[in-house]
Amino acid sequence: MPTAPPASPKVNGETQVIVLMAWPASHVRTPTFFNALCAQRGINAIMVPWAVRPEHLQEAWNGLRHVANLAGVVLTIPHKQTAAQLCDRLEGDASLLGVVNTVRRDADGLYTGRMYDGSGFVTGMLREGIVLAGKRVLLLGAGGAATALALALAREGISRLTIANRNREKAQHLATLVAQAAPGCDVRPGSDDPGDHDIVINATSLGLKPDDALPCDTSKLMPAMVAAEVVMQPATTRFLMEAELRGARIHRGEHMVTSQLDHFVEFLLPDVNRQG
Ligand SMILES: NC(=O)c1ccc[n+]([C@@H]2O[C@H](COP(=O)([O-])OP(=O)(O)OC[C@H]3O[C@@H](n4cnc5c(N)ncnc54)[C@H](OP(=O)(O)O)[C@@H]3O)[C@@H](O)[C@H]2O)c1
Repeated sequence: MPTAPPASPKVNGETQVIVLMAWPASHVRTPTFFNALCAQRGINAIMVPWAVRPEHLQEAWNGLRHVANLAGVVLTIPHKQTAAQLCDRLEGDASLLGVVNTVRRDADGLYTGRMYDGSGFVTGMLREGIVLAGKRVLLLGAGGAATALALALAREGISRLTIANRNREKAQHLATLVAQAAPGCDVRPGSDDPGDHDIVINATSLGLKPDDALPCDTSKLMPAMVAAEVVMQPATTRFLMEAELRGARIHRGEHMVTSQLDHFVEFLLPDVNRQG
């Protein structure tokens, strides 16, 4: 009889450790997905959530340099920008955007950072059959996650990107950066009105807490639209519930992380890849 895969990976003296740093950490779901993948593939690695206050990030970060079986660090709210400054090397979009979500600890104790949020989000949408090319996209937010999404979406051939953020200067700054990096896309800062858009993405942190405000006026969402989320906990936020009520197609935040799991393995665990 086939045996079910173990619910969690085997942990022994050879286990490679990946630390996920967040503050607070109670909402994180990435370790659950990643550890299930490792258990399923027989990879001797484990991801553990660490609740690290922003003012203690640097101390925790420097201490980890000396942990020889630390494969790397995964970062989420609110650490992505600060961690980029603490990296010794940045690669790809991380060097362009100044944000990281995945950092490898190399054998010499140096940290190399990359940013996979944008490609993870776009891959997640495409895997679900959502067409991006030619679409008018409203991006709500201009923080770490939104920054990565904006660039990845603009490169994917969308026709227009409107960036709406509480802090308007940040929206303007992000629009300028994306316009330079992806000149083919019409990108502008704008209002959070979903009208006149095909896809509306909540890339703010609104929705994590039950009493959070909605990220936009959801009464303007229509059946032909897609409403997408980056928040993973709860799995279906109030924004998505409201969108579903109005007949829009919804796309949950978990797709963004499940699409990044292979990147975590490839980048953080090069020995696993060499062994096949
Ligand atoms: N699904 C995934 O794989 C995945 C990956 C990464 C992140 N996330 C989630 O994405 C969310 C954002 O993370 P982040 O790293 O981008 O955080 P961040 O850099 O701190 O950015 C937070 C964003 O939310 C906005 N915001 C926060 N409170 C607000 C409020 N009360 N009213 C209006 N806007 C508000 C901020 O606007 P201001 O600029 O005006 O402050 C900013 O645009 C988090 O929930 C995180 O868990 C999910």
